Amino acid sequence: MKTDSGIFDGTQTVIGHGAQADVYRYHGYAYKVYRPDYNPEWIKFEKAQQSAVNETGLCNVRYYDTDDLYTVKMDLINGETLEKKILAGFEGGFDILAEMFRKVHSAKLDGVKIPGLIDTAGFGVSEENRQKIIPVIERLSAKYGECICHLDMHFLNIMLPFDGTEPVIIDWINARIAPAVFDYARTYVILRECAPEVLGMYEDAVASDMRSLGITDEDFADAVMVSQVIRDREKKD
Ligand SMILES: Nc1ncnc2c1ncn2[C@@H]1O[C@H](COP(=O)(O)OP(=O)(O)O)[C@@H](O)[C@H]1O
Ligand SMILES: [Mg+2]
Repeated sequence: MKTDSGIFDGTQTVIGHGAQADVYRYHGYAYKVYRPDYNPEWIKFEKAQQSAVNETGLCNVRYYDTDDLYTVKMDLINGETLEKKILAGFEGGFDILAEMFRKVHSAKLDGVKIPGLIDTAGFGVSEENRQKIIPVIERLSAKYGECICHLDMHFLNIMLPFDGTEPVIIDWINARIAPAVFDYARTYVILRECAPEVLGMYEDAVASDMRSLGITDEDFADAVMVSQVIRDREKKD
């Protein structure tokens, strides 16, 4: 991992790991240091996404440029991930997850500068898979209406501040405008892959919200299929 960026004076401490980056606490800020082989275009995109999300009021953590292309400075959340809290015995994890979905999906859409799922879903996907997923996204978008979807909602991307203020959702690079069913489906795909033993708890926690949106089992299954295709493509990055 890249820590020799010249940004740090040796007093940094690791506070988090993600698939693409390590995160450090340093002089009152958090610093996300991407792998040296990570595409800088994606870092630029993540910064643009964060700024768009800042405007919605859904997350106040700001990103700042540093002298190193692969290092982004962020406002520090003085807290812990929901995952850490669950591992320490907290039982309300899925309730918080369900609440975070409701919060994101009820945000105003006017003027939001986040791309549509339909505009990016086909990137890097085979022609055959594109033919499979695009009509489903079109059909479900027309049927359910659209909202902001985080599309990477899991316990490592929700942080609980130590001062007891409300949870903070982080890591918005995947956020898209889409029907909410795709957000529920994406988390289903992630849990099916990483923690299948809790899939039933997840389904129970979001069932009533999905029902009140009128989401049918068939449409959910279709959205899971789309999310799995996109997930498989990401793993090739
Ligand atoms: N602003 C922040 N303040 C404090 N900790 C953070 C902050 N941003 C990220 N983290 C920690 O770093 C981890 C990885 O960050 P994240 O942005 O989710 O990276 P990735 O895109 O690699 O998943 C998080 O799960 C969290 O523990
Ligand atoms: Mg993350």
